[in-house]
Amino acid sequence: MKKSKNILLGVSSSAACGKALTLASALVKKGHAVKTVLTPSAARLISPQLFSALTKNDAFSEQFSADGVFREGHIALSEWADIYLIAPATANTIGKLAAGICDNLLLTLAVSRRAPLFIAPAMESMMWKNRNVRENVSRLKKGGIKIIGPVSGRLASGSSGPGRMSEPEDIIKKLAL
Ligand SMILES: Cc1cc2nc3c(=O)[nH]c(=O)nc-3n(C[C@H](O)[C@H](O)[C@H](O)COP(=O)(O)O)c2cc1C
Repeated sequence: MKKSKNILLGVSSSAACGKALTLASALVKKGHAVKTVLTPSAARLISPQLFSALTKNDAFSEQFSADGVFREGHIALSEWADIYLIAPATANTIGKLAAGICDNLLLTLAVSRRAPLFIAPAMESMMWKNRNVRENVSRLKKGGIKIIGPVSGRLASGSSGPGRMSEPEDIIKKLAL
């Protein structure tokens, strides 16, 4: 099996977006190729250009681009990926994944993927404990999607509890890379 993998990193709009940069850098340092796809909301919190600069590779956020930046097409990106990792995964993105909704590029790629999908949720504790979120997570698990974390710890609000995204090194260990 080839050692270096093509990793498609999906980033949704969480306070943990900054940790996705650390994760992307660590994957590249290990010799993997990383392309990033951000939800449009995530691209408002963190610049796709930062991911592009750190990974020396493409970072997309628009499914339909007026300037034609997204030339590759979602099928080509799906075929490129050996692993699809969504980190951080918001409650919203988890819900849409569970329902098979494809209203942004990150979600379209999840539905059109051939690669195994891993998600690392990140949210406040009350969101993580919400009944609908719990149901969506168990639906994803039943569908064979691997859920990494979250862990208990300090959250963006300043409180502590379950919902903190797993640390990048722990995510990489779970991917067995
Ligand atoms: C600064 C900021 C931090 C946020 N952090 C989170 C988070 O950690 N988890 C979460 O589920 N939603 C979080 N949200 C709310 C989501 O951004 C919001 O639900 C959004 O619609 C999710 O869209 P997306 O899943 O397409 O990225 C945050 C919003 C803001 C403005």
